[in-house]
Amino acid sequence: MGLLDGKRGIVFGIANDRSYAWYITQALMQHGAQCLFTHLPDASGKMERRCRLAIEELGVKDPWLVPCDATKDADLDAVFDKIAADFGKIDFVIHSIAFADRSFLQVGNFHTTTRQAWAQALDVSAYTLLAMGQRAVKVMPDGGSMLAMSYYGGEKVIPGYNVMGVAKAALEHTARYLAFELGEKKIRVNTISGGPLRTLAASAVGGISDMFAHQERKAALRRNIEGGEVGSTAVYLVSDLSTAVTGENIHVDAGFSIVGL
Ligand SMILES: NC(=O)c1ccc[n+]([C@@H]2O[C@H](COP(=O)([O-])OP(=O)(O)OC[C@H]3O[C@@H](n4cnc5c(N)ncnc54)[C@H](O)[C@@H]3O)[C@@H](O)[C@H]2O)c1
Repeated sequence: MGLLDGKRGIVFGIANDRSYAWYITQALMQHGAQCLFTHLPDASGKMERRCRLAIEELGVKDPWLVPCDATKDADLDAVFDKIAADFGKIDFVIHSIAFADRSFLQVGNFHTTTRQAWAQALDVSAYTLLAMGQRAVKVMPDGGSMLAMSYYGGEKVIPGYNVMGVAKAALEHTARYLAFELGEKKIRVNTISGGPLRTLAASAVGGISDMFAHQERKAALRRNIEGGEVGSTAVYLVSDLSTAVTGENIHVDAGFSIVGL
């Protein structure tokens, strides 16, 4: 018996087979969950193709896959309306999306961030969790689990992470406020603070190679992490093993964040 047998949910954020969302999906499916997916729409259709290929690699031949730019209310409405029409209810929502203009993710240029770049980073990377929570209530009548991906740069200054660090701080605290309000509907909301992983989004962060080397030197376990390790923690947070856990930020970082120097 899988820990997630009978559970169904939606995953936002598979860009390819290196995405955190891909590793999370792999782990959830290994434990019996059924996953639904969205892709970022683009005129060329490239995003959809890459996303579909990555999902097929997980053995899902005809995925439930719909376009969604999470900064557009109409797109989010369409996703959750379709979930309601097709399935009635779901049990989990995985938020694994973020974006910031890479020209402001260079070491030393946080102070140059424009109002527009700030607003965009906070909108895509933090507000969208709230926007999903609003809509999830309607398709989680029996409660459920929401999970978002964060990073240590939301707690401490990581040079180059810049405005994305501010967005992660907002994301983590949005999760706590959501956890409080949605708690009476038995919906839990948690974040995982994952260690650095070589993904498309990570490649936009200035000094990312140094982060991997620094992680190996400083982390308690003296190594980087693997995507599957975040996947396993996601299984715990989605499953009934964590029914009293909400508003938490769990570090899956090989112990990087416990070391001061
Ligand atoms: N890679 C790392 O080192 C690392 C570490 C900790 C946390 N994270 C977080 O993990 C999450 C996933 O990132 P990743 O590293 O897997 O990179 P990724 O590039 O594989 O995934 C980012 C996803 O965000 C999606 N996205 C961007 N703008 C969007 C929008 N407007 N609407 C809908 N989707 C949108 C992209 O399509 C993509 O699928 C992010 O929140 C990221 O900040 C990453």
